[in-house]
Amino acid sequence: MNVLLLYLAMLPQDPARFFDRQVAPILKRRCLACHNQQLNNGGISFQDRASLLKSGRHGRLVVPGKPDESYLLRTLSHKDEIKMPPGIPLSRKEILVIRKWIEQGAVLGCNPSPFMLC
Ligand code: HEC
Repeated sequence: MNVLLLYLAMLPQDPARFFDRQVAPILKRRCLACHNQQLNNGGISFQDRASLLKSGRHGRLVVPGKPDESYLLRTLSHKDEIKMPPGIPLSRKEILVIRKWIEQGAVLGCNPSPFMLC
C-alpha cells in the first residue's frame, strides 16, 4: 500500500475523509462545472491536484498548509480582481471549510463521484 496513504489514514483528522465529506460537496456545487478535466478555466481542475499547486497570474493558487499564501482563498473573498465563484460568493462557513482543507494540506479525497482520485 502507498506509504503516504497509510500515513494519511492514521492522522487523527483524516484529511481525505474531510475532503470527501466537507470539501467535495462545495466544489461539486460551486466550482467543478468550470474547473474539471475537460474544461479547466484558468488552467485549474479540481480533478487534478497538480493544477492547483501551480502559480497563476497572481501567485501560487494553493500552498498546502498555508491558506494565507493561497491565492485561491483570496478569490473566494470577492475582494480581489478575480472573484470565485462568479456571481454569488460562498458562505462564510463554506470559505472556512476551504481554509481548513488548505491548512490540512489540500488533500483530495477518493469517494464521491466525480472526484474518485485514489
Ligand atoms: C462559471 C464558471 C466558473 C465557476 C463556477 C468557477 N470558476 Fe474559477 N474561473 C473561471 C474562469 C473563467 C477563470 C479564469 C479567470 C481569469 O483568468 O480571468 C477562473 C479562474 C479561477 C482561479 C484562477 C485565478 C488565477 O490567478 O489564475 C481560481 C483560483 C478559481 N477560478 C477558483 C474557483 C473556485 C474555488 C470556484 C468555486 C468556489 C470557482 N473558481 C468557480 C470560471 C469559473
